[in-house]
Amino acid sequence: MKYEKHIFICINERPPDSSKGCCASGGGKEIRYEFVKLINEYGLKGKVRSNKAGCLDACEIGPAVVIYPSGLWYTGVIPEDVPEIFEKSVLGDEPVERLLSTDQTWNQLASLREKKN
Ligand code: FES
Repeated sequence: MKYEKHIFICINERPPDSSKGCCASGGGKEIRYEFVKLINEYGLKGKVRSNKAGCLDACEIGPAVVIYPSGLWYTGVIPEDVPEIFEKSVLGDEPVERLLSTDQTWNQLASLREKKN
C-alpha cells in the first residue's frame, strides 16, 4: 500500500446560487489545509496523504471528508473539527462518532433531494 492513510477532502466549488451548495463554501480548502499542516507537523509526509477531491456526492451536507483504508465518511465537517479527526482516525483507527456519516445520514440526504424534485 502506498499510503497508510489516504484522506480525500471535497473542495468542489459551485456558483453561489447553486441549490446543491458545495463543500468549498463550507471551508473545504481550509479543511484540507488543516490536514496538510498536521501531516507535516507529525512528520507523516509520504505515509499519510491529504488529497483534494472533486464532488463526493454529499454536497447538501458537506463539507465531506473520507479516510481510507477504513472508509470512514464524515460530513458537515468544519476546519475546527480537523484536529479531532486527525487524532482519532488518522493517527488512530477510531471514528469521530458525532461527525460520522451513517445510513441515517444518507437517508436524510436522499429525502432532502426528493423534496427538491
Ligand atoms: S460538492 Fe462536495 S460533495 Fe459535492
